[in-house]
Amino acid sequence: GAHAGHAGHGGVQTAFSPSSAAIPVTALSGPRFGEPDRRYTLTAEKKEVRLASGKTVQAWTYNGQIPGPELRMKEGELVEVTLKNENIDGGVTIHWHGLDVPNAEDGVAGATQNAVMPGETYTYRFVAEQVGTFWYHSHQNSKEAVEKGLFGALVVEPRQPSTAGEKDITVITHVWEGAGFAIGASDTLQRMAIAPGTPVRLRLINTDNWVRQTYVLTGTEFRVAAIDGTDLNEPGSLRDTELALTTGGRYDVTFTMPDGPVYLSIGNPKKKLGIFMSSNGEGELPTLPATVPFEPESYGRPAQTPFDADSKFDREFTMILDNKLGFYNGEFQSLYTINGEVFPNTPMFVVREGDLVKTVIVNRGSVDHPMHLHGHHMLVLSRNGEPVTGSPWWSDTLDVSPGETYEVAFRADNPGIWMDHCHNLQHAAVGMTMHLAYE
Ligand code: C2O
Ligand code: CU
Repeated sequence: GAHAGHAGHGGVQTAFSPSSAAIPVTALSGPRFGEPDRRYTLTAEKKEVRLASGKTVQAWTYNGQIPGPELRMKEGELVEVTLKNENIDGGVTIHWHGLDVPNAEDGVAGATQNAVMPGETYTYRFVAEQVGTFWYHSHQNSKEAVEKGLFGALVVEPRQPSTAGEKDITVITHVWEGAGFAIGASDTLQRMAIAPGTPVRLRLINTDNWVRQTYVLTGTEFRVAAIDGTDLNEPGSLRDTELALTTGGRYDVTFTMPDGPVYLSIGNPKKKLGIFMSSNGEGELPTLPATVPFEPESYGRPAQTPFDADSKFDREFTMILDNKLGFYNGEFQSLYTINGEVFPNTPMFVVREGDLVKTVIVNRGSVDHPMHLHGHHMLVLSRNGEPVTGSPWWSDTLDVSPGETYEVAFRADNPGIWMDHCHNLQHAAVGMTMHLAYE
């Protein structure tokens, strides 16, 4: 819970100790001193996990479960997470996907720390400054680690609850090779009893390695309240709209429970996978309506942002995403390139603290690339030459389809060395990875 000195963790004066007060806002590591408001221990271990369907999978887990435990905290809290590696041979870390933590807390093996090997322990400390829906995952051998289950939800609640009595439901979707999905801890249809009139928030998180997930909500009007953990401005009411969510991305969907049933269908409707909500949890699944795609660029109302398309940019970069065949790690295979190169020959973008940076992301390849920038949030300026006309749209994992061009901008306000990579983790592993560095 909150206590005196709390507000200080942003780097302003704190009541804890003179040494923590000296840490500037842009310190490379989280506050080293002070009693944490929340403490978690996550133990990475191999475990056979049984999904709700009865299928068993050989998983890599945090605390023996997939997804790992949900970490829920309040805005402004100092959080301490101790990671123990029981028996994951290649080592593990924890990356806080979408949380712009100080660089040393970012959990990237080989960049901000060494992988935590079996028998070892590592402690992360950071202040939860952003409210919203995030997730965490290992960032050592990321492709294999995330695929096998080393991930979980992370939710930062506002200091004051925004909607009293809200029913808050986390919906993680994840594809298991040959074993369907895991939604929360299940891979089957879930039924829930929710009283009419209850405000409901669905936190949709796509932790999958490569599948763009789709969701259709029927039986009610709803709003997309947030994208990638950032609230939208005056989001309008939607109906018969299909939400497509890129791997690594998040949507917060809100509605008021009506008298009749509401059904969140996930993926292929024939699979009857999703969440069915009604006053007693019973009832027939509705047939799904014809839908139109959700278009974030024209959704909600414009609002003031700290910078915009008319700002003067200190640096401008271009990322050309493409694919080609070639040798990598001794194997002839599909490679995924940034500006024609595969990691570690991809460009390194160098910025100075305080710079306003514009990046043009162009997909010239044949497949989607969910581009994820660590440590910063990107304001989307335009998509395919059309300026964003709706709410300010901040993203940390941007879904760039073949042929598309996005212009994004961010403030270089978090010094360190940061990954910028495709969150199709197979693509990241065979080339599509680069770094952003501060000079
Ligand atoms: Cu969610 Cu670099 O990753
Ligand atoms: Cu990709």
